[in-house]
Amino acid sequence: MLQIDYANCLTVRVGDQGLRDAFLAPASDASRDAERAAHALANAAGSGMQRWRNLVRDPMRSEHIEQVRALASEIQGRFDNMLVLGIGGSALGAIALQTALNPPTWNLLPNSARQGPRLFVLDNVDPERVSATLDWIERHGGGLARTLVNVVSKSGETAETAAQFLLVRDRLIKTLGRERPSEHIVATTDPAKGTMRNLCEREGYTTLPVPDGVGGRFSVLSPVGLFPAAMCRIDIEGLLAGAAAMDERCRSPALSTNPAALLATLLITLARDNGKATHVMMPYCDALLSLADWWRQLWAESLGKQVDRKGQELFAGFTPVKALGATDQHSQMQLYREGPNDKVFCLLEVAAFREDVTIPTGASVETLSYLEGASLGSLLNAEKRATEYALVESQRPNLTIRLPRIDAHTVGQFLWLWQMATAFAGEMLDVDAYNQPAVETGKKATFGLMGRAGCEVHRDEVEAALTPTRFVV
Ligand code: PA5
Repeated sequence: MLQIDYANCLTVRVGDQGLRDAFLAPASDASRDAERAAHALANAAGSGMQRWRNLVRDPMRSEHIEQVRALASEIQGRFDNMLVLGIGGSALGAIALQTALNPPTWNLLPNSARQGPRLFVLDNVDPERVSATLDWIERHGGGLARTLVNVVSKSGETAETAAQFLLVRDRLIKTLGRERPSEHIVATTDPAKGTMRNLCEREGYTTLPVPDGVGGRFSVLSPVGLFPAAMCRIDIEGLLAGAAAMDERCRSPALSTNPAALLATLLITLARDNGKATHVMMPYCDALLSLADWWRQLWAESLGKQVDRKGQELFAGFTPVKALGATDQHSQMQLYREGPNDKVFCLLEVAAFREDVTIPTGASVETLSYLEGASLGSLLNAEKRATEYALVESQRPNLTIRLPRIDAHTVGQFLWLWQMATAFAGEMLDVDAYNQPAVETGKKATFGLMGRAGCEVHRDEVEAALTPTRFVV
């Protein structure tokens, strides 16, 4: 199981910058808050926007495994490429799973070694990246005839995903003829309503559900993340089993035994009482870096809120930052140790790497002999330990999430841990962790600027606010 080592967040290690050791005591304010939040979450689990918690329980768990498995095994082998079109919560989970659980060279492997399609996730509308990806598929990847398109959009309204989809659908029609594209498209969308659902019905696409009450950033363990994972041979049952095991741990009302409540409490208290509102996630393992991207969205979009659930202004939230160990020791560490003491560091450590590499002996360079015969894994973990020490020396609170190894079970635990910590934090801060009102303004303004009927008012608002642009050098 995953472990959280939080000793370096306490006064005993980082002096006044940390929390008193007693903060976990059963009668402490923090413990009472956590207990209250645990009860509130237990009551809300499985209802409203907390329906994502059903994803690891039957019947939803088995239904999704069956649907995803059946579809993946029906079409597996027909495609050399899988193109996921989505953005935000509709893309970050698939990227994180692929990065964590398949080799970084996955797309470079020959088909026989991969036994699943190459995975391309287009989560932006950057024209250069989109056309380079489609061109590569056309010239070197067997073309669209060997490509499965998985368009992922709960609403079907998102401009970026819609634009990509219209483009790829048009190319499929031009390449394969009007009848065939539906054989190449799987849409993961709302099961009952929305623009994408209507299009699917009109054009006969195969669909997978984004269940009601499962928001984008809580959807990685729904068909949104599970389908690309299953196509790429990731153990989806292992993911869900790991998440279910973490769910069990996160039901405890006791702060000292509930990892999600503990994480939320530590991070909220250090921000509120000690001014540490920037949270840095720093994996010491490349495979976990995209999990940090996934976490950034979850933590930022869920908790960054102007008002509480009663409508009182509070400007809640934390600034999530990702960094990579050891790479960013040579880029960010100077700031982290000597710059403003406004951060908490969450280091990710892997006890045993799936592959390790021994540094050869016999180079006869005296000053480098300490490296000879050591493994790269042991060097990386020594660097992580050294960073912990260096941060403690500068009285910078930090914690470590330790994965015994990287596999579907531990990754499932990690995802669920942070989803639950986010739910706890939402409860403790009294904010709605499931909406994103501030994102809507930009979406509407884009509709206006792109000429969507009925959105002219938003275009006018943009022009009024940003004109004239006189201060340009
Ligand atoms: O977490 C969220 O809700 C968002 O990031 C959405 O996933 C994102 O905006 C994409 O929305 P949709 O799936 O409706 O296209």
